[in-house]
Amino acid sequence: MSTVYDLLLRHCCLLRSPHSVETVDIGIQAGKIAALAPQLDATAALELDAQYQLVSPPFVESHIHLDSALTVGEPRWNQSGTLFEGIEIWRERKQTLSLEDVKQRAISTLKQQAAQGVLFVRSHADVSEANLIALQGLLAAQEAVKEWITLQVVAFPQDGIYGSPQNAELMEEALKLGADVVGGIPHYELTQEDGVKSVHRIFELAAKYDRLIDIHCDEIDDDQSRFLEVVVANAIRSGMGSRVTASHTTAFGSYNNAYAFKLLGFLRRTAVNFIANPLINITLQGRTDTYPKRRGVTRVKELWQQGQNVSLGHDCVQDPWYSLGTGNMLDVASMAVHVCQMTGTAEIDACYDMVTWNGAKTLHIEDDYGVEIGKPANLIVLDAHDRYDAIRRRATVRHVISQGRLLVSTLPPQVEWQG
Ligand code: FE2
Repeated sequence: MSTVYDLLLRHCCLLRSPHSVETVDIGIQAGKIAALAPQLDATAALELDAQYQLVSPPFVESHIHLDSALTVGEPRWNQSGTLFEGIEIWRERKQTLSLEDVKQRAISTLKQQAAQGVLFVRSHADVSEANLIALQGLLAAQEAVKEWITLQVVAFPQDGIYGSPQNAELMEEALKLGADVVGGIPHYELTQEDGVKSVHRIFELAAKYDRLIDIHCDEIDDDQSRFLEVVVANAIRSGMGSRVTASHTTAFGSYNNAYAFKLLGFLRRTAVNFIANPLINITLQGRTDTYPKRRGVTRVKELWQQGQNVSLGHDCVQDPWYSLGTGNMLDVASMAVHVCQMTGTAEIDACYDMVTWNGAKTLHIEDDYGVEIGKPANLIVLDAHDRYDAIRRRATVRHVISQGRLLVSTLPPQVEWQG
């Protein structure tokens, strides 16, 4: 007698790990992967034919700012295109934030992302305002969406932990309210000393409240911005390595090689994660250069080559720093291929892994991530044959299955040749 599943996917070209592809049927029962085999003798309430297309674990968005998403043009457009004009505009916009405003924009953005195969997201929440509205809005969104997408929230002091007298207290309050991750922005503290002090404080708070760390670190073209070495030293000394993430680190692309190679050597002693945000940093950085103009993205290829965990984030969707974007992680991977010159076959595949498995490692969700028997049934079916095809055509995600349920389906565009 054949088994009856809740959901059965036939003819899947399953990316089971970054190193293995198998042709299988997938049986899903009670929200979990129940069976994986070349030809399941089974029926189901819902049966889908993947037509031998790519089936993958969902995309992981490891770095986004949902509190500012969908505010482009409010109250004005960023005409210079710089990070610092973006911060000024955001400072004006956040005077009018309400909990409902933040929550609804976050949910709208998460829906855009989920429809494109993203089911795990880490968002920063600006905690530099006395009422902590951005944080509370994102925590409310986290609760509202938990049945279909997992959201981690970072307490992110946009104006610096020591930028104003109450900010250090607000950081701690944010952790008490339930922020999952301790954030920071040492290169935007008022002095270098404050920047170093802020990194030490972030590690103290993470230890005290048992949280992960994700620091906006050296997001500037200044080759003297060297807070990454402070993060690395703290990670080595505290043993917190894999619980620590350095986001952006764009100055790493401007360091001289003598210093960069020394730093890469130090990094071999710890498992710090890196997140690059190529869509945003290729547009924000290099704005004060004439020519040659720097790319302003961290050393993704070198970090990947030496085995550091590197993931990629979208960072912004239609906000004061980036007016474009739809939340599509294949756009992000494609931009990384270009900007970081990751054009070899293994390098293109690695860029796909940076928006899937590597992101899962950064978010510390590996135990529940991946299409394996017994794990939660989270997976996507792409209109693509393999990772290269998915990135090259920024393939449509045909089906998104979240916690065992078919969440959303999309038809690829149909070309009608009229000539
Ligand atoms: Fe960011």
